[in-house]
Amino acid sequence: MRRYWNARPCNIRHSPKQVGTREYFDEVEARKYFVEPHIPVFAEFERWKGKKVLEIGCGIGTDTIRFARAGARVTAMDLSEESLAVARRRASVFDLEDRITFHQANAERLSETVPVETYDLVYSFGVVHHTPHPRNVIREIRKYMGSRSVLKIMVYHRYSYKVFWILLRYGKGAFWRLDRIIARNSEAQTGCPVTYTYGRRTVRELLEGFVVESTMVDHIFPYSIAQYKRYEYRRAWPLRWMPDSLFRRLERRWGWHLCVTARIEDLDSGESR
Ligand SMILES: C[S@@+](CC[C@H](N)C(=O)[O-])C[C@H]1O[C@@H](n2cnc3c(N)ncnc32)[C@H](O)[C@@H]1O
Repeated sequence: MRRYWNARPCNIRHSPKQVGTREYFDEVEARKYFVEPHIPVFAEFERWKGKKVLEIGCGIGTDTIRFARAGARVTAMDLSEESLAVARRRASVFDLEDRITFHQANAERLSETVPVETYDLVYSFGVVHHTPHPRNVIREIRKYMGSRSVLKIMVYHRYSYKVFWILLRYGKGAFWRLDRIIARNSEAQTGCPVTYTYGRRTVRELLEGFVVESTMVDHIFPYSIAQYKRYEYRRAWPLRWMPDSLFRRLERRWGWHLCVTARIEDLDSGESR
């Protein structure tokens, strides 16, 4: 896994400018939230001003910076040293080093590296489904949460347009090999070793010991890939002719991102999922 993410940190080509410059980071951020506008809605960056945020799998730090810029104190970790090097550089370019502590670690064994303390928010966007044993990560995350802490986690949605498209395009309909085919084709760079997908029921099973407060499905990547690589945004067939209102309805039903907000189960109050 580490080799895969080191070879191409997530979103590293979101700008053609020189990696590590302010212009590069500004363009990465603009592209990320243009293509995935539901992220700020889900993360609620401003809400965490003055709070402690633990980010699992920060990648090159796009959301990390947004939390810090909004006034949060952030502990951010990732498996990939290459991603962390870019994220650290980013913190320094924006003069946010004093707000962010970075750790290189495996989230499945988080507490061996990141000191255990209670955070207001534990946030993980697009990470847990890429690790071989997601339940281990959830068990570790729980150690960093108190009764008032919030968990916000995005995992890939099994009942999505993207899975349907992968199955048709690469799987020739071979749904019995679906998990392997999804992993191979889920990311910008092919060959991701692990990608699990979840439905609303299975993500609740994953989040054992948590109370799920809300789930939200969003995001269909609509652009023609060849043009997207040239930083041009033109919807691909068959989405090109679709009215925006219908496209949004489709995203909310068959989107690729299953965003879940949860808290730890309060056994004293008898609260349960
Ligand atoms: C799809 S990227 C998402 C990065 C970032 N959250 C974002 O939204 O831009 C997945 C990230 O998860 C990290 N990752 C995968 N498995 C991990 C693990 N077991 N522990 C820590 N990080 C992990 C990868 O190194 C990679 O940076």
